[in-house]
Amino acid sequence: MSTANFGERLAGKVAIVTGGGGAMGGAQSRLFAAHGAAVCVADFNLEAGEAVRNDIVHSGGMAIAHELDVRDEAAWEACVSATEEEYGPVSILCNNAGANFRVSFDDQTLDMWNIIMDTGLTGAFLGIKAVVPSMRRAGGGAILNMGSLASIRPGGGSPAYAAQKMGMVGLNRAAAASYAKENIRSIIISPGHVDTPFIRGNNPHSPNDESTSIDNPENYNKRLSGTPMGRLMMPEDLANAFLFAASDEASGVTGSMITVDGGAAL
Ligand SMILES: NC(=O)c1ccc[n+]([C@@H]2O[C@H](COP(=O)([O-])OP(=O)(O)OC[C@H]3O[C@@H](n4cnc5c(N)ncnc54)[C@H](O)[C@@H]3O)[C@@H](O)[C@H]2O)c1
Repeated sequence: MSTANFGERLAGKVAIVTGGGGAMGGAQSRLFAAHGAAVCVADFNLEAGEAVRNDIVHSGGMAIAHELDVRDEAAWEACVSATEEEYGPVSILCNNAGANFRVSFDDQTLDMWNIIMDTGLTGAFLGIKAVVPSMRRAGGGAILNMGSLASIRPGGGSPAYAAQKMGMVGLNRAAAASYAKENIRSIIISPGHVDTPFIRGNNPHSPNDESTSIDNPENYNKRLSGTPMGRLMMPEDLANAFLFAASDEASGVTGSMITVDGGAAL
């Protein structure tokens, strides 16, 4: 059994981080690079991905930025090739990219359903299929899938988000069972309420207004009172769990869910 060097827990590893220009993907990318990984910051918002790449490179880490729409199978092949060309075979995949439209079942349209499912679930499926051949060349790997409270107890809002995040539990277990013999692990990490633009801002992949944004103290306090630890999670809380799951310290962990939610799912 290998004993990881605590300061360089991902030395020699190569990671693709989708939604890498976002809050949680950005925090993972920075932390992974600080622990010695070479990181492909993959996002369909190239400018956001480049900003994270620049931070990493300015801090002495290894990173490239790559424009990737996770819904596009051909774009995945190009992303894996570009990463391999720069750094060698990929050993870590973080499937962060997600979308949500916070409307009721009655108001959710087929377009909204398709964007949420295609981004969060089909995007992760395509990512796993594109990256596994590279992980085989690396001699193993870790697939890390972004879950949610909706992966545990989906509520009445946004039916596609509930289906996507519950679907991620199944996809995670299928990947874990399929690839365990090849030393490729798959773990789902489920945050609670994380203070990011996903629930605060008004981006096309996750629109919010006064009725949903945590900028509205009423919404913020509702999420806070649903979190026994009494604070919202921060992207760094999640990044630390992703770091553990990606590292050799988690070499026997596969198929499972790690919650990082301040007790919100209790
Ligand atoms: N913030 C929360 O409270 C919370 C809680 C549970 C789960 N999540 C999950 O975390 C992930 C989002 O992370 P965040 O909170 O850091 O949000 P974020 O909005 O800061 O980041 C999301 C990133 O995904 C990118 N993205 C969206 N669609 C894409 C696509 N088709 N292809 C490539 N990139 C795409 C965006 O450009 C953005 O950079 C989602 O999967 C979301 O469901 C968030």
